[in-house]
Amino acid sequence: MLLQGKVALVTGGAHRVGKAITLALAEAGADVIVHYGSSDAAARDTVREIEARGGRAAAIQADLHDPAQIDRLFAEVQAQFGRLDVLVNSAASFMRQPFDEIELDDWKDALQVNLRAPFLCTQRAARLMRAVERPADEPALIVNITDLSGIQAWRYYVQHGVSKAGLIQLTRIAARTLAPAIRVNAIAPGAILPPPHMDPAGDAWQRLGERVPLQRTGHPRFIGQTVVFLAHNDYITGAVIPVDGGEHLIGPAN
Ligand SMILES: NC(=O)c1ccc[n+]([C@@H]2O[C@H](COP(=O)([O-])OP(=O)(O)OC[C@H]3O[C@@H](n4cnc5c(N)ncnc54)[C@H](OP(=O)(O)O)[C@@H]3O)[C@@H](O)[C@H]2O)c1
Repeated sequence: MLLQGKVALVTGGAHRVGKAITLALAEAGADVIVHYGSSDAAARDTVREIEARGGRAAAIQADLHDPAQIDRLFAEVQAQFGRLDVLVNSAASFMRQPFDEIELDDWKDALQVNLRAPFLCTQRAARLMRAVERPADEPALIVNITDLSGIQAWRYYVQHGVSKAGLIQLTRIAARTLAPAIRVNAIAPGAILPPPHMDPAGDAWQRLGERVPLQRTGHPRFIGQTVVFLAHNDYITGAVIPVDGGEHLIGPAN
């Protein structure tokens, strides 16, 4: 699918990895809706950045814990843009916790944001995507940003890993169910960007890079590039693409 004239929605698209995805889609020609939860200033900055480069963008807030807010998000997409061609489920909650200390609310948070919300967004996006006539060989696209913790057994990211493993299975089931009108794929990033509390120049992050086969950490642009690649290639569905310097080939770090 060529992205010129198409409309893309990126959840958690205001900053960090989500922003790189947003900018890559805009650069490739799409109009982009930057969904955000609490980062309204970053979302407005991202919209301005796209507009300054001649693109079209809008920011829409929604708490992904709340199905009613997810409904409103898609109603606003329809009202403002009139169509949807690409959905990227990038928003996520990420928490390191020992197994014994996980509370019910921690479990609920991860499962709601990382798995239930992508399902609800997929269902609602599919309705908008099917409402638009498109060539049979140019399906709409959904990309789920999962995590290596959904493939490997990371001991300190239990609810995160379980939710991301569920997202991989959701990708496969949705790819079968929504074909041929919609393709559904996943990207499993490795060490792309350290969590906000971790110094990117610090030893802990550097060591994570050194242990992977390509011996370096990644960059958010690699995730943006892969989303655009998936948009351009109309014959891939149900795939889970690791973008991790080969980390999936070795044992887990955690
Ligand atoms: N960073 C990495 O190296 C890495 C590695 C593997 C996988 N990933 C995956 O790549 C994606 C992006 O990574 P990231 O590190 O950039 O993510 P992040 O900074 O941890 O969070 C992404 C976004 O999720 C949104 N979000 C969280 N809870 C929300 C809620 N209840 N309602 C609405 N929005 C909510 C936040 O939006 P607001 O700030 O607006 O609230 C945030 O911008 C995630 O799916 C992550 O699991 C990242």
